[in-house]
Amino acid sequence: MIEEDNWRERVRVTRGDITGLRVDAIVNAANETLLGGGGVDGAIHRSAGPGLLEECRRLHGCATGKAVITSAYRLPAHFIIHTVGPVWRGGSRDEDALLASCYHNTLELAKIHGVRTLAFPAISTGAYGFPRRRAAGIAVRAVQEFLEKDKTLEEVIFVCHDDENCAIYRELLGTW
Ligand code: APR
Repeated sequence: MIEEDNWRERVRVTRGDITGLRVDAIVNAANETLLGGGGVDGAIHRSAGPGLLEECRRLHGCATGKAVITSAYRLPAHFIIHTVGPVWRGGSRDEDALLASCYHNTLELAKIHGVRTLAFPAISTGAYGFPRRRAAGIAVRAVQEFLEKDKTLEEVIFVCHDDENCAIYRELLGTW
């Protein structure tokens, strides 16, 4: 009997700064201009250097829920996948679906580019105000759905920058 692949074996949670991860691709929680900002967007642009902004300028933006890919420049990763999460407006403006599409579109783009190891920040849960637990549930479900049908991605890492997000992801994934 072929051992049923447990998608959870390809997912892990880590606490720290996504910019230092040596993975094929890291994900940026960007805004629609793609011209940088604060939070993880600011950290990624600071660490990647000016070449990233030059490439982003040529992309002419990214709609909420969509994802685009660039080189990673001075970062240890090979690629950066920029996705634009929804701003939380109370939950009745399609925020859940838009956040889920950030994860789905990022995963599909990673697959197209042969990415094997991918790291996500907690998209929309900072400046964009999305409730952390609700966002984590959407993130984990989207990754589970993808990994259950795709065997090429070897590892998905949820990178948490605060203890609360870490505890939420570890509880959802049953990994303490
Ligand atoms: N590594 C990993 N995670 C980080 C890092 C980092 N270096 N810095 C911040 N974070 C976490 C935050 O703690 C939060 O949990 O990333 C998550 C997303 O927060 P934001 O970066 O504020 O992103 P978001 O809520 O999606 O808002 C996007 O903020 O920075 C601007 O240009 C960006 O306009 C866009 C908006």
